[in-house]
Amino acid sequence: KTIHILNGPNLNLLGQREPEIYGRETLADVETACARVAGEKGFSVTLRQSNHEGQIVDWIHEARQEASGIVINPAAYTHTSVAILDALNAFEGPVIEVHISNVHKREVFRHRSYVSLRADGVIAGCGIEGYELAVRRICSLLA
Ligand code: DQA
Repeated sequence: KTIHILNGPNLNLLGQREPEIYGRETLADVETACARVAGEKGFSVTLRQSNHEGQIVDWIHEARQEASGIVINPAAYTHTSVAILDALNAFEGPVIEVHISNVHKREVFRHRSYVSLRADGVIAGCGIEGYELAVRRICSLLA
């Protein structure tokens, strides 16, 4: 019973990158918080980050065997990647899309998400708490 938390490009810099938009907390902080929330419901989490689209596609394929659900922040690939959408369409469990910032308050090119065509839910603008909310939601969808 594992939830995969997948992160796209530039999120390795979370905590250092544009902190006025993305905050000061790091992906390690995200992992700790999500592990706690999931643990309360009897789930574990695996958090991964890549700057490469194909790597994210490969991880989604792996999740077909290994994960009960996926939390994904595809970062900039949200707005461009048909490949990530197609991979998620081949995954049968619940998928929640997360954006740390409120993408709807930002540039128009951030308003469209390919991944939203598959996601069971979308959380934007709740900071890194959005990941915890997403994990909680996956747990209830699987309960
Ligand atoms: C983001 C929003 C995207 O538009 C952006 O490209 C990111 C991060 C977010 O978490 O707010 O890299 O997904």
